[in-house]
Amino acid sequence: MTRPLLTEIDHVAIAVPDLDAAVTYYEETFGATVAHRERIDSDGVEEALLKVADSYIQLLTPTSESSPVAGYLEKKGPGIHHVGYRVVDCAEALQSVKDHGGQVIDQVPRPGSRGTTVAFVHPRGAFGTLIELVQE
Ligand code: CO
Repeated sequence: MTRPLLTEIDHVAIAVPDLDAAVTYYEETFGATVAHRERIDSDGVEEALLKVADSYIQLLTPTSESSPVAGYLEKKGPGIHHVGYRVVDCAEALQSVKDHGGQVIDQVPRPGSRGTTVAFVHPRGAFGTLIELVQE
């Protein structure tokens, strides 16, 4: 490997049953502010991004019963859902996962929130962590 493919932590995503309550918690307890809020119907989620230095806390709530986040909350309850790593080239990082025998959820990069390009790596083969590769 000639250079590191992961350049920064983009966000830590936390699954919550009540987005407003979670936002209020971070605002009132930690003085955090919402930098971006978006409903992503293709993923069945609504997110609120709270800026922490150059990274974000991504609060995620399901918008439909069939949302993967709904299943997650039902099975595990609220908590850390995935880690988003910033990459220079999402396709390159995704290819490296495949080259090293990893399991991917997205075969090719796709649009994420905030106009980013993203791909998810399956937690199986990634030590139990759902990984999102985020290209700005
Ligand atoms: Co994410």
